[in-house]
Amino acid sequence: MSPINPFTPEFGSVPLVMAGRQSIRRELFDAFVQGNPNLSSILVGPRGSGKTALLTYLGKEASDQGWIAVHAVAMPGMLEDIYEQTLLASADILEKGKAKPPRLTSIGVGPVSASREAAPAPSENWRTRMGKLVSMIEGAGYGLLITVDEVVATLDEMITLAAIYQLFVREERRVALVMAGLPHNISALLNDKSVSFLRRAQQHTLGTIPDADVREAFRETAAIGGKEVTDDALEACVRAIGGFPYMLQLVGFRCWQATSPDDVISAREAHRGIRDAQDDFRTHILAPTFRELSQIDLQFVEAMLDDENESRISDIAKRMGVESRYASKYRSRLLAEGVIEQVTRGVVRFALPEFRAFVREELDD
Ligand SMILES: Nc1ncnc2c1ncn2[C@@H]1O[C@H](COP(=O)(O)OP(=O)(O)OP(=O)(O)O)[C@@H](O)[C@H]1O
Ligand SMILES: [Mg+2]
Repeated sequence: MSPINPFTPEFGSVPLVMAGRQSIRRELFDAFVQGNPNLSSILVGPRGSGKTALLTYLGKEASDQGWIAVHAVAMPGMLEDIYEQTLLASADILEKGKAKPPRLTSIGVGPVSASREAAPAPSENWRTRMGKLVSMIEGAGYGLLITVDEVVATLDEMITLAAIYQLFVREERRVALVMAGLPHNISALLNDKSVSFLRRAQQHTLGTIPDADVREAFRETAAIGGKEVTDDALEACVRAIGGFPYMLQLVGFRCWQATSPDDVISAREAHRGIRDAQDDFRTHILAPTFRELSQIDLQFVEAMLDDENESRISDIAKRMGVESRYASKYRSRLLAEGVIEQVTRGVVRFALPEFRAFVREELDD
């Protein structure tokens, strides 16, 4: 039987070997052990930068250090989902101790379709119910980590969660909150007046991963699957990956596939693998992103092609023949879609590797 491909090019999956991200992992680990400002953290990064994978990873780290970890996604019903997931995740430790948690009797498909035995009085609001649960968890010697993925500022429950979390912090409860989102959504959230305290949370930017870390992770992942990689093959892969976590998994996966079971990954296999990975990336990421652009989006993107790396909104507006204010409206759309990212005020660049080259080719056809 051929060994299983150890690379994981699926969104949200935790890689077997995590490349880079050492400082955030260390800081969060210390926070789970000792408690420090990193207990309120925000992960910011473009699509495929590894936010979801890192949240899952941190949840596991926290669990090993005496925390109950509960993962949520910012969408309607989130608060109830957090409450019910906390009940489920803490059931074991609370049963072992004396505390009797309110029990779930049946759980349906959606987060709100669970019914409860010993349901809390209807007058108890989320803060009260959650506060009681946190007390019980603390009583059993644990803390509660809540992670929220795909943060959006437009969700009222996001604001409520932030406000109540702050109250828990003031009450010196053992709680932690780690949120993750696209740069544009995080800055929109932090600009909301009602969550000003979140501006003091630790922000960690998930940028590109240094080549040295990519090299090591690539080699190690292949080794876990029982394959060696020659030096020249590895260099070609590192170059093609360009520090982009999703690409690391794609390139690794395809190189692995291109190699016969008992062979090492050498330059020939690597070149085939890289080509296949680039095709995947175009088919699954670049082409759909391109297709979703509206006419105006496309004009905006076209106006960026004249620049090498970064573009000023004022230049883009000039090239589009419109006012900066008008161009800014379309900038927000493209930011939200993860096509571009803000570098500094009034300056943007493409958030996806190779998107510029892809658009050029599409427009030339
Ligand atoms: N540090 C890392 N080292 C190696 N591979 C990684 C790393 N982080 C993430 N990956 C891989 O990259 C891919 C994308 O990760 P993930 O789904 O976490 O990205 P994301 O930032 O949540 O993307 P999105 O914004 O689309 O939700 C997955 O295949 C994952 O296994
Ligand atoms: Mg994600």
